[in-house]
Amino acid sequence: GAMKFTVAIDGPAAAGKGTISRRVAAEFGFAHLDTGLIYRATGARVLEGQDPLRAAEFLRLSDLERDDLRTPDVADAASQVAAIAEVREALVTFQRNFANREGGAVLDGRDIGTVICPEAEVKLFVTATPEIRAERRYQELTARGLDVTREDVLADVKTRDARDASR
Ligand code: DC
Repeated sequence: GAMKFTVAIDGPAAAGKGTISRRVAAEFGFAHLDTGLIYRATGARVLEGQDPLRAAEFLRLSDLERDDLRTPDVADAASQVAAIAEVREALVTFQRNFANREGGAVLDGRDIGTVICPEAEVKLFVTATPEIRAERRYQELTARGLDVTREDVLADVKTRDARDASR
């Protein structure tokens, strides 16, 4: 029979949520949504000149497969669109639809267990210091050939924490 089962994995950027989510999803055969990607895909559309709310309302799962969503510019645009209440509302709907799919779903990102999926069967909170998270993000970015410094990545993590915390 059909089964709905949601695993909510919360925590700030680059804390290790993605690694844990992918492993949980693989272990149980659940679908996985990195919710940061939906804000990034919306931000990427806005960088191309689209209206933020339109970009959020017309978002599709295939938009999350773009290969440019991990760049610092897109991360910054994502953080900015995430501050727009109407955009967040549209993306909350997207996330709840995903969480309610049959066969189980793992969602990771900020506010997942509290705001997006308060009824989730399982909730985890994963965190680490800004320095540890910046180091992880620095390794990810340099491994992909991006020319960034540790100092810049740490400053970026702190700026985004402050912006995300003041929403
Ligand atoms: O986790 P990330 O770096 O991919 O997230 C990019 C931006 O998206 C982040 O700055 C804030 C926003 N975001 C959010 O508001 N809520 C989420 N659940 C995930 C991301």
